[in-house]
Amino acid sequence: MNIDKKFLNENMMGPDSWLIAEELTAALPLKEGMRVLDLGCGRGLTSVFIAKKYGATVFAADLWTDATENYNRFIEIGVSDKVIPLQFDALKLPFANEFFDAVISVDAYHYFGNNDTYFSDVLCPVLKRGALVAIAFPGMKYEVKDCVPKEMEPLWDREALEMWHSIDWWKPKFEAHLDNFKISEMDCFWAAWQNWLACDNPYAVEDREMIKTDNGRFMNLIKLTGVKK
Ligand SMILES: C[S@@+](CC[C@H](N)C(=O)[O-])C[C@H]1O[C@@H](n2cnc3c(N)ncnc32)[C@H](O)[C@@H]1O
Repeated sequence: MNIDKKFLNENMMGPDSWLIAEELTAALPLKEGMRVLDLGCGRGLTSVFIAKKYGATVFAADLWTDATENYNRFIEIGVSDKVIPLQFDALKLPFANEFFDAVISVDAYHYFGNNDTYFSDVLCPVLKRGALVAIAFPGMKYEVKDCVPKEMEPLWDREALEMWHSIDWWKPKFEAHLDNFKISEMDCFWAAWQNWLACDNPYAVEDREMIKTDNGRFMNLIKLTGVKK
């Protein structure tokens, strides 16, 4: 599904989340009438994608981005009837139990869900039994926290290293709670990073040296999907 390039470039906050959402949801039976939580939606690119492609109702929730700014973006791109902008901390979800048919989270979950209990104790309760779960985040090919390669030391900060983990680290946080659980490196890993690095966002410019030095050796882009038991 196409997106206006200017809109995309203005609103990316990391690796191309439009591309990530395309791959992440490709095999999922999302449809009109579903209530989808987009957790850590940033400037709402993935919310726009879900509303436009699947016609679902999206609750676009973010901490750093102002809800009015997102609402104006949703009006501009023609999805304000389908997407509800919200601003709150994902650590405390203001929803009724078993409210959502699906949750999607792109390049955000590692900020608030990087522990043993977030998925089971905070996110699971607001999902219906049978809800679709689709999450993607940057991570590592293997755990590097205690053996950071010398050349990467100036390019990775400690805070990021607390959040970027391997597939094996993430797996046990989800697998007991999901049927049809799948977790893997994303096919769009390289393309999603390149689209981000090519835009003139100052954070993208800063990331160029990191990705160049890493050169596909340590960093990863991980996707996981499943159905809530
Ligand atoms: C790198 S941005 C990605 C945004 C968007 N999903 C995308 O891919 O374009 C990370 C997002 O995570 C959100 N975030 C971080 N911690 C959060 C929290 N505790 N609750 C809700 N959102 C959070 C931030 O507000 C930010 O917009």
